[in-house]
Amino acid sequence: MFTQISAASFESRIFSLIKNQWFCITATDNEHINPMTAAWGSLGVMWNRPVFTVVVRNTRHTFSLLEKSDSFSCSFFPKEYRDVLTYCGRHSGRDVDKIKETGLTVHHFDSFIGYEEADLVFCCRKASRTLLSPDQFIDDTIIHHYEHEDYHIQYMGYIEKIYRKEV
Ligand SMILES: Cc1cc2nc3c(=O)[nH]c(=O)nc-3n(C[C@H](O)[C@H](O)[C@H](O)COP(=O)(O)O)c2cc1C
Repeated sequence: MFTQISAASFESRIFSLIKNQWFCITATDNEHINPMTAAWGSLGVMWNRPVFTVVVRNTRHTFSLLEKSDSFSCSFFPKEYRDVLTYCGRHSGRDVDKIKETGLTVHHFDSFIGYEEADLVFCCRKASRTLLSPDQFIDDTIIHHYEHEDYHIQYMGYIEKIYRKEV
């Protein structure tokens, strides 16, 4: 059972959570729900509000969906779902229905979409989008992440709700 918690009370080893545990960004065009694995992102405060920032390359199906949507969610899973996250990070929603293929169960948090199998879900409303373009890179080594010029779009989302599963 999920319990809603406030951003102020949220505690976690956030760097390990994002980089090592990974998470799924879910965007929808109201027809298709598509989870995409991510290991880069940040949590913080912007414009006086708690925000979750994700970065999505312009080649991802998720990018097309995010462009059409006002919101997205970030779902974290227990470690036994590592294979599911790997699948969602290796296959595109353009080619497969990842919900069907992974057996994930969609859970509606009001208008936001997460998963029954998740243990932590951030429901976010898009606040801003920024192209991370090479002329803005100060560290020269960053460019090596973009051999194919598939630059990230950075989406900052206001965290509207956080749900944690009771154990
Ligand atoms: C561990 C892991 C982390 C990833 N992190 C990101 C990320 O932060 N941003 C991104 O654009 N792609 C990331 N990817 C790649 C996408 O998940 C992958 O290309 C996926 O197939 C895109 O799905 P989509 O086309 O349905 O959006 C990651 C993949 C893995 C396995």
